[in-house]
Amino acid sequence: MKADLTALEITRERPLLGRRTGRLSYGCWRLAGTPVKEVAEKIDAALSVGANLIDTAAIYGFGGAGFGEAEAMFGEFIGDRPSVRDDLILVTKGGITPPLPYNSSVDHLTASCEASLKRLRTDRVDVFLIHRPDLLTGHEEAARALSRLVESGKVRGVGVSNYTVEQTRALQHFLDIPLAVTQPELSAWATGALFDGTLDHAQTAGLLPMAWSPLAGGALATGVVPSGADEELFGDLIGELDRLAETNDTSRECVALAWLLAHPAGIVPIIGTQSADRIRSAAGAFDVTMNRRDWYAILEASLGKHMP
Ligand SMILES: NC(=O)c1ccc[n+]([C@@H]2O[C@H](COP(=O)([O-])OP(=O)(O)OC[C@H]3O[C@@H](n4cnc5c(N)ncnc54)[C@H](OP(=O)(O)O)[C@@H]3O)[C@@H](O)[C@H]2O)c1
Repeated sequence: MKADLTALEITRERPLLGRRTGRLSYGCWRLAGTPVKEVAEKIDAALSVGANLIDTAAIYGFGGAGFGEAEAMFGEFIGDRPSVRDDLILVTKGGITPPLPYNSSVDHLTASCEASLKRLRTDRVDVFLIHRPDLLTGHEEAARALSRLVESGKVRGVGVSNYTVEQTRALQHFLDIPLAVTQPELSAWATGALFDGTLDHAQTAGLLPMAWSPLAGGALATGVVPSGADEELFGDLIGELDRLAETNDTSRECVALAWLLAHPAGIVPIIGTQSADRIRSAAGAFDVTMNRRDWYAILEASLGKHMP
């Protein structure tokens, strides 16, 4: 039988909570401390490539400009340009307030979401995520917190980040509304979510998977070996991404993003660059032609072994 080498399909949009979201998202983790004029340039660049799904979190800015500062910067932008708000699908997260690692109690998540709304200068977030699982809050209570936020109209949908599949299922067990989003770390380098059930569960339960650090925090762009990583293994992955970049006459970053976009779970990579030009260039991912052999070659290079 001849190998199927047709190009894998990469769509530009997918549904989320009754709306259409672009298949690229823009992430605000590194945005804190940016002047509002530059925030506007980045959001405009994101919208120009269809990235209307904006990802932020209460904690973004902590350790630098300050806790809440990424949301505050974004809020300043919304204050200046309120008409853009409805073009965006806004995701924020709560449940991490240093020095406490995690708190998903009703009181904490409610207060966190309300504070986010004030900073973001909006009366609702589209999706509110529990940032990381809190081992000391039962799933029933965390679900109650999320349900109340939805009932109050402050939040349209809810989801989780860094949850295992079992934790996601346990939370869902106590919720009357379906979780809308799951947000694992996922890239051609950090491939765990492909194998731990996250993407399988996302497909059966209808969750939109947002991939955080889709360029492995920049390592897949710069080629700089992540700390603690096996140099040879990482070099092989870079070589494989470069091979496909060359045949597509595009950048390695676009191939790395396309690799995520081509997966059938409808992954939405969250772009993290602070350069408006690089945000625009990310759209080149939609033009990458990749077949099954290319896709598996990248995975095998990342894993350092052939598929069984
Ligand atoms: N849920 C969670 O726990 C969690 C955790 C981490 C992140 N996130 C979300 O995921 C988003 C993306 O994460 P990330 O920022 O780590 O994403 P990423 O896209 O993997 O990495 C972004 C980094 O790569 C660099 N980069 C990108 N393109 C480059 C290029 N062509 N050449 C050189 N450097 C390049 C950027 O630097 P420049 O700015 O200089 O381009 C930036 O420092 C965050 O903003 C956040 O919204 C969520």
